[in-house]
Amino acid sequence: MIQVDVLVGLQWGDEGKGKIAHFLGVHYDWMARFQGGCNAGHTVIHQGKKFIFHHLPAAAVLPQVKVFLGPGMVLYPPVFVQESQAIDKTIHLSGALQVILPTHLLIDVLLEQARGKGAIGTTKKGIGPAYADKALRQGIPLKTLLENPKAIQNTFLWKYHQQWLRLWESEPPSLDDFWQSVETMRQWLKEGKLKLWSPQAWIEYCYRTQERLLAEGAQGTLLDLHFGTYPYVTSTHTVSGSVYTGLGVPPNVIKEVFGVFKAYMTRVGQGPFPTELQEPLASRLREWGKEYGATTGRPRRCGWLDLNALQYACKINGVTQLIMTKADVLAKLPQVQVFYQDQFHSFPSWNAQLIDDTHFETFCEFIEKQLQQPIVYVSYGPETQQIYQRTTINVS
Ligand code: IMP
Repeated sequence: MIQVDVLVGLQWGDEGKGKIAHFLGVHYDWMARFQGGCNAGHTVIHQGKKFIFHHLPAAAVLPQVKVFLGPGMVLYPPVFVQESQAIDKTIHLSGALQVILPTHLLIDVLLEQARGKGAIGTTKKGIGPAYADKALRQGIPLKTLLENPKAIQNTFLWKYHQQWLRLWESEPPSLDDFWQSVETMRQWLKEGKLKLWSPQAWIEYCYRTQERLLAEGAQGTLLDLHFGTYPYVTSTHTVSGSVYTGLGVPPNVIKEVFGVFKAYMTRVGQGPFPTELQEPLASRLREWGKEYGATTGRPRRCGWLDLNALQYACKINGVTQLIMTKADVLAKLPQVQVFYQDQFHSFPSWNAQLIDDTHFETFCEFIEKQLQQPIVYVSYGPETQQIYQRTTINVS
């Protein structure tokens, strides 16, 4: 039976999961995504070269790692084709994952406009509308699209979207890119750059092999459709439990759950943020931490670490090992704060190298004590080598 570890974000996404997945990737045979689509944006620096992935897991750049996109995902062909050109290997995809059509992007924009002040602040990548159509059982599985692309135009969904388009006031964008990327995917299937898996074939494979797989979450726990700050959430389950249905592996194969969190909090889009910072500190942290969305370029809201939220996220996900990122960003401040129970706790800051810094150790120990979990790794910069181990990690 395949062995699965899971890596999830414990905040509102953008915790730096991409760098960590790339770092841990050397221990695995497979890297897989189980939810979301191109609302995600991972920046990975591999051998001095920068990659930005939206559908692909971050460790796709590692030569020995096989890549699987599970049926819990949605995929937008033009973006997928563009990012996949940078990767010279077979990409394994579930034929059951759902396609985002160009009209899903337009509907996302129309819905946000209609919400007015109550807008969610989505990435406008068509995620919500695509998952809604899937739940309405009128979505388009990838296999269906690739087998007979033009037949999609005769589906109920296509016609239903034409109704929506009447609300679109400007000229709808050309569909050429979409169809061209579908043709490229069909060609890649023939050439072996893509391989489609049926749910049955995938589960048979999992039962047969002893391979190791890291399931890489996108977004973060507080954006989960059930457990996040609804309605200011994404349309998927971002927590570790989502791996079973989003990937097609049984619960008994999961071992480690790596929970990644930033030393402070950020959020893009609307919704509650109890520890949000005011100006000018918010802007300073944003600049120091380069807190701008990898997908949309939007400035992220910034705030102090919320340990209540982190405690909740650890419980929901069953986190077994914690990984802290961007600890160096807070080193620029004289004092840092952490919100726990109903008060802020102040800590003197540390030097940017962190290692053996007693102030930084005090900060980590406070977090570990409340969360009852070890912080196994600390990342202190974007470069691959800017990470160190605080305690023994358990990846077998
Ligand atoms: P959607 O996923 O595009 O529908 O957006 C819903 C909410 O999730 C918005 O607040 C987005 O900003 C947020 N969101 C979606 N994807 C990401 C991500 O990868 N990082 C951070 N926030 C995200």
